[in-house]
Amino acid sequence: MPAVPLPRRAGRRTNLGLLALLLLAGGTGVLAFGVGTPLPSRLVTAVHGAAGLGLLLLGPWKTVVVRRSRARTAGRRDPVAAWALAALLALTVVTGVVHSATGATVGGVGLLQVHVAAGVGTGALLVVHAVGSRQRLRRTDVSRRALLRAGGLAVGAAALWGAVEGGLRLTGAPGGRRRGTGSHERGSGEPAAMPVTQWFTDAVPDGGDDVLEVVAGGRTTRLRAAGLDRGDTVTAVLDCTGGWYAEQEWRGVRLDRLLAGTRLPEGGSLDVVSVTGYRRRLPLADASSLLLATHCAGRPLSAGHGAPVRLVAPGRRGFWWVKWVRRVEVVDGPWWLQPPVPLQ
Ligand code: HEM
Ligand code: HEM
Repeated sequence: MPAVPLPRRAGRRTNLGLLALLLLAGGTGVLAFGVGTPLPSRLVTAVHGAAGLGLLLLGPWKTVVVRRSRARTAGRRDPVAAWALAALLALTVVTGVVHSATGATVGGVGLLQVHVAAGVGTGALLVVHAVGSRQRLRRTDVSRRALLRAGGLAVGAAALWGAVEGGLRLTGAPGGRRRGTGSHERGSGEPAAMPVTQWFTDAVPDGGDDVLEVVAGGRTTRLRAAGLDRGDTVTAVLDCTGGWYAEQEWRGVRLDRLLAGTRLPEGGSLDVVSVTGYRRRLPLADASSLLLATHCAGRPLSAGHGAPVRLVAPGRRGFWWVKWVRRVEVVDGPWWLQPPVPLQ
């Protein structure tokens, strides 16, 4: 087939457009896991969805680039990586859209997990592909015309996202009722129907002891978990990065009550550690909104949901809600001095 007569620059711009959208989708995808409050999460996932769907708009142009590449060269240095990139990106977009629309799981694995894994793989292959075919930036890339084109792409991407979103609402699809984070409702007010999920490096322990250590003001106090039900309640949404959420009434003891009478460092933090070694560090200033829960919806926690005691951290994503808490420790350091997501 003869090479399609397309100006070389057009292909370069298509590739740069793809690169920009992929970087935006990757960045907002990771950010989507960090935000739990309604408005910021809605904004982040909207930009994420628009960037991901916007890639489709560049499909026709990229097809020309691919055809020209195949016609001109006997084969690229990395055609396998390029086609694997195409396949993984397709999987990423399809699982993203189907998760958003349905919240479905396949064989017990949430489509969102497949989506995130495929997205990370896409990122790795993109590095191989883009480094092998570097596209130099030119002065004309910031010309009025180029900026108008970029603006057109942004408007088109936003319109596509709006059309998908409108379609989900009009058809009454489950996705029309999902939270701003993209999570679907599972088991609100009914803990037995709430999925049991934990960070992928963590697992439900065989059964721990029921003693909680509180380390504060240079003293260690050991408390029986059974005595932690002091009747403090909070209604809060547990929103898991696995793609589901549930609103429950949690009962136990507020952390500021537990620490009352202890000398606390200004600007300090709280390390909350599980029997499994899993841990998160939270600002001490949040203590009045944090709860150590022993009960959910009026019933004792199940093992899968963190018995005998778990942290409830309203407004934060599920990976902050440490389960099977064994130790709470007041520390001097800032809360942000930790990996943004758990590594242990
Ligand atoms: C959306 C993600 C992308 C996919 C799925 C993709 C896929 C492909 C495929 C399948 C080819 C043809 C390979 C062959 O000859 O068989 C190709 C060519 C090419 N790609 Fe991409 N690509 C993507 C993004 C990018 C980006 C971000 C850049 C650079 C910043 C880029 C630069 C190039 C170049 C320069 C060629 C042509 C090379 C030549 O003419 O020899 N691509 N791409
Ligand atoms: C190459 C990278 C990625 C692309 C192209 C991509 C694309 C998409 C698309 C097209 C959707 C569906 C949006 C909709 O229908 O409204 C989506 C949803 C989603 N993606 Fe990604 N994604 C990528 C990586 C990631 C990563 C790395 C994460 C998390 C760490 C992530 C988290 C999410 C979440 C939470 C949703 C649901 C958002 C919602 O329902 O509104 N994505 N993604």
